[in-house]
Amino acid sequence: MGNLLVTGGAGFIGSNFVHHVIEHTDHHVTVLDKLTYAGNRASLAGLPEDRVELVVGDITDAALVDGLFAKVDAVVHYAAESHNDNSLHDPRPFLDTNIIGTYTLLEAARKHDRRLHHISTDEVYGDLELDDPDRFTENTPYNPSSPYSSTKAGSDLLVRAWVRSFGVQATISNCSNNYGPYQHVEKFIPRQITNVIRGIRPKLYGAGENVRDWIHADDHSSAVLTILDKGVIGETYLIGADGERNNKDVVELILTLMGQPAVAYDHVTDRAGHDLRYAIDSTKLRTELGWGPQYSDFEAGLAATIAWYQEHEDWWAPTKDGVEAFYATKGQ
Ligand code: NAD
Ligand code: DAU
Repeated sequence: MGNLLVTGGAGFIGSNFVHHVIEHTDHHVTVLDKLTYAGNRASLAGLPEDRVELVVGDITDAALVDGLFAKVDAVVHYAAESHNDNSLHDPRPFLDTNIIGTYTLLEAARKHDRRLHHISTDEVYGDLELDDPDRFTENTPYNPSSPYSSTKAGSDLLVRAWVRSFGVQATISNCSNNYGPYQHVEKFIPRQITNVIRGIRPKLYGAGENVRDWIHADDHSSAVLTILDKGVIGETYLIGADGERNNKDVVELILTLMGQPAVAYDHVTDRAGHDLRYAIDSTKLRTELGWGPQYSDFEAGLAATIAWYQEHEDWWAPTKDGVEAFYATKGQ
């Protein structure tokens, strides 16, 4: 049994990981989360109080971070500003949290000699052509497009430098697009599901040809736990579940699963610098660490996600109107 610190553990993927750890291990978890607009303590509801503690605070607060590192065995770092559209509107919080926040954690890991796993994204690799036969691997050169992805790329490079220069015991994972319960309604899939619930037509950026490589958040969590247990210090692992779909197909599937005509959506202003396609080759993680995804049926996973949003309006309703008002100012 160990003590884990999980940064960003009240967000979408971080809270999924906390639930996963409580279910599958004996670890105690301390969550460090600033509870920004994206953090929600309700996402941790129902977890045993003797095994999960929420500390509300900022990962750029060096004194707070130092005190928490002194008390734990290992750290999993999810906290980030995570939404591309927000980074195009106001990049500054992305620099503060994603760059300075990661630097602050690395300095604490170095001082206390703690194991750190850094959560990152496939977006650091830029994008692929639709017909490119290759997918991203651990050797693909970094080529980020947005303020969000460039700060994530910067944070990855900081981790690599602290491993090499200071001997910090860190690993990195870069995962593709996650879906599942507890995802903020600003993101593509929950935005469209909650639009349909509210009687608003789904909004597709541009022509909708952009491809994302979908993975269920539960599979991301099992991969991270595998890397924490068996990953080699200094290594990077790509996480993906062979789930490539274009946005148009996803919107049409959501509408169909929700009993609406598949064409009942609007094309809206495209995202500036919109990455065309992401695709992950996760061979290294599968062959070297023996991980594999449990969700092979995207349609079934999406149907369960739709059911969750239909049953948990209390979780998402408080943020819905503000998100739609913001998108409306952008013609989206
Ligand atoms: P999210 O926006 O849902 O959650 C982020 C969490 O971090 C929130 O709880 C927020 O309150 C917290 N946070 C933000 N700034 C903080 C700060 N300064 N100090 C402490 N806490 C802070 O994000 P998510 O989608 O769950 O993503 C989590 C991580 O996974 C991010 O690092 C992201 O880059 C990465 N990632 C996400 C995806 C995806 O599809 N969502 C895919 C690959 C990687
Ligand atoms: O690839 C991993 C990344 O996936 C993570 O690093 C990010 O944190 C996460 O937000 C996600 O980034 P994307 O930009 O791919 O996700 P988003 O949900 O914002 O958009 C998915 C696709 O859907 C993208 O091509 C833009 C499009 N889109 C999005 C919204 C919100 C629409 O067509 N309509 C919309 O309303």
